[in-house]
Parts: sequence; C-alpha cells; structure tokens
Amino acid sequence: MKFFIDTANIDEIRAANELGVLAGVTTNPTLVAKEGVSFHERLREITQEVSTSVSAEVISEDAEGMIKEGKELAAIAPNITVKIPMTLEGLKAVKVLSDLNIETNVTLIFNPNQALLAARAGATYVSPFLGRLDDIGHNGMELIATISQIFDQFDIKSQIIAASIRHPLHVTDAALNGAHIATIPYKVLAQLVKHPLTDKGIEQFLSDWNKVKDL
Ligand code: E4P
Repeated sequence: MKFFIDTANIDEIRAANELGVLAGVTTNPTLVAKEGVSFHERLREITQEVSTSVSAEVISEDAEGMIKEGKELAAIAPNITVKIPMTLEGLKAVKVLSDLNIETNVTLIFNPNQALLAARAGATYVSPFLGRLDDIGHNGMELIATISQIFDQFDIKSQIIAASIRHPLHVTDAALNGAHIATIPYKVLAQLVKHPLTDKGIEQFLSDWNKVKDL
C-alpha cells in the first residue's frame, strides 16, 4: 500500500514529501477552503512540489460542467488527477475524461456497487470513505475488503484509495484489507512514526552513550 497525503496545505505536503514516502496528494473543496488561497494557484504550487498524482475536485454537478472543469484542471500539470463525485453525471464525466487519457479519482464512495460502477466507467482511482462510514455506525473497513475482493475477482485495474482516514489503525487495516493507497492527513502520518518504546530506546541509547563518550 502506498501513501498519499490528504491536504491542500503546501507546508504539510513539503514536510511529507521530505520523508521520501509520498506517492501522491488528494485535495477536496473543504481542504482548499481551509487554506483561503486561489485553487488553481495552489494546485500549481503542489504540482511543482510533487510529480506523482495530485487529485483536484470538480465543483459542477452536471457532466458537461465536470468535463469542462476537468480539462481545465488537467491543463495545469500532467500529474493532475480529476476528482469526480460518485453520481450518474459523474460517471458520464469519468468516461469522457478517461477516453481523453485524463486520470480520474471517483470520490464519496460508500458502497461496493458505486466502486464497481466507477471502475467500469474508467476511473483510475476509487475513494471509499472509511471514517465517515464509521461515524454513522457502519464498518468502513468491510467496504475496503469487499471492493478489493470484487476488483481482484474481475481483474479490475482501478486502484482503491482508502480515504477519510482518522487514525493509525485505519492505515494498518486498510493495507491488510487490500487498499492500494491510503490518503491520510499529515497529523496521522506523523502519528504512524511514533511508538513510546522507540522514544524510550532513543533516550536510553543517548544516555548510555553520554556516559562513555569522553573515554
Ligand atoms: C479523500 O480524498 C477526501 O479528501 C478525504 O479523505 C475526506 O476525509 P474526511 O472525511 O476526513 O473529510
């Protein structure tokens, strides 16, 4: 499983990129709004920092508008992936954009049929939202496992992005259940590194070293 970062914050993207583990970026209108910057300008900055997939979401609700926006977004940089919401209009847009060799990420997926439809329309990525399902008492991880099983059964090439990740256990379980990618907030990425025994071990090694360093 690969790591994407789920943010429009350029400092977080740079910090994650320096770790050498970053395989892509996902943004959404809420994340962009938090930044209070021009969307296209921010996408230019992100695509200069990261050469792998950068998901940018369309706002239109009709296929024609999504396709127009998708083409404009894709023109910003070759590594833009157009993020399209899971609707009937969205599927039409995915089909047209994928025929134009523009990568797509179908977002707001909450059941296996939505994922299968998105894949059949030509989506490069499908994004099931774990945390939001867990929030309403459903099992987000089961959804990842089911989509993974269906995609394997029919040799479907669309990649599963585990999205709406809230904590480190989501990341481990997404990997175990067949997600190709987890897109995670910077805060969770930093949490993945931490273990109290690692900190304790470093402290012990330094303290022992200091006892003998001047010998
Ligand atoms: C994914 O592409 C979405 O941007 C994101 O994971 C949504 O997460 P949230 O449920 O924490 O808003």
